[in-house]
Amino acid sequence: MLDQLQKHLDQVAEFTPENAAAVEEFRIQYLGKKGVLAALFADFKNIPNDQKKEYGQKLNELKERCAEKIEGFKSQASGQSAKLGSLGDLTRPGYPLPMGAIHPISEVKNRIVEIFSRIGFNVSEGPEMEDDWHNFTALNLPEYHPARDMQDTFFLQTDPDWMLRTHTSSVQVRYMETHQPPIRTISPGRVYRNEAISARSHCFFHQIEGLYIDKNVSFADLKQTLAYFTNALFGTSKIRMRPSYFPFTEPSAEVDVYWGLETETDYKMTKGTGWLEIMGCGMVDPEVLKNCGIDPEEYSGFAFGMGIDRIALLLHQISDIRLLSENDLRFLEQFQPRF
Ligand code: PHE
Repeated sequence: MLDQLQKHLDQVAEFTPENAAAVEEFRIQYLGKKGVLAALFADFKNIPNDQKKEYGQKLNELKERCAEKIEGFKSQASGQSAKLGSLGDLTRPGYPLPMGAIHPISEVKNRIVEIFSRIGFNVSEGPEMEDDWHNFTALNLPEYHPARDMQDTFFLQTDPDWMLRTHTSSVQVRYMETHQPPIRTISPGRVYRNEAISARSHCFFHQIEGLYIDKNVSFADLKQTLAYFTNALFGTSKIRMRPSYFPFTEPSAEVDVYWGLETETDYKMTKGTGWLEIMGCGMVDPEVLKNCGIDPEEYSGFAFGMGIDRIALLLHQISDIRLLSENDLRFLEQFQPRF
C-alpha cells in the first residue's frame, strides 16, 4: 500500500500539463469524488495498525501536493494572461524593496537644520578646502596669531595659503561677504583637524555653525536662541554658559547642556559630570564684521558652532566616534528610518 502511495507521489511530482484542460483532468483524477485520493482514504481502515501513521502522513502529503500543483498551474496561467493582455491586479502590494538607512550624522544634522529653520535660519554651505583669509585672517586670526594653534590645521603641502577648513566659520565669512543683514544662517559641513584619532575624537568631524546679524542683537538673544535649541533637540533648557575665548567673538562662551548620567555612554561623553559641552558661541567681533563688509556701528550679531558627531553619539548612545566613518554595514543598518 505504501509503495502505491509513493508511486502516486512521484507521478504527481512529474505531472506537467499542456493546457488548462489537462489540469482539470488531473484535478478530477486525483481530487474528484471518485478520484484516487477518495479511494485511498477509503482504504485507510484496511491498513494494518502499525502502518496507519506512516500511511496517513503520506496520504496527506499526496493531497497537499495535488492541491499545490493545481494552484501552481492556475497562478502561472493567470500570470501569462496578465502579461499578454491587461496589467493584472493594480491594487496588489508592491515588492518589498530593500531600504537604505540614514547615517546618524545626517539624521542629527537634519534635525538641527529643521529646528533652526523653524525660527527663520536658512542653510549655507562652502568649500572644504579653504584659503587663509576665510579660515583664519577674516576671523581675526592674522598670521602668527597664537590662537591659530588652537586648531591643528592640515595645510596643503604645495601651497600653505590653502588648507582643509578647521571650522565652518569660514562659511560665515563667505556668507557675510555676499549678503547684507539681516542675516540668519546655519552652515553645516565637514571640518578637519590634525588630531590623534581615538574613541572620542577624529581628524575629521562635522559642525554646524549659526550666524545672526541684525540691528540691536544682544547676548540675551543668543542665550534665548540656544535655550530654544537645546529644548527642541535634547528636551531640556538647562544650559550653562562658561566664559571662553574665540578670536572672532567678544564676549565668548562655551555652552554646556545638562544631559544626565544614566548610561555608560553618558558617563563617557560627559566625563562623569552629566554636563555635555556642546558648543562655542559669542557676539561677533566688530573687527570680523568690518572684514566682511558689514558696518559694526549699525549692526551686531551672535555666532555659535557645534560638533554634530558628538551629539549623534550621545543621542544614539554610540560609544566610539570611529564607528561613524568606518562604513561597517552592521553598524549602519541599525539606523533604518522609522515611519
Ligand atoms: N569656530 C569655533 C570652533 O570651531 C566654534 C565657534 C563658532 C565659536 C562661532 C564661537 C562662535 O570651535
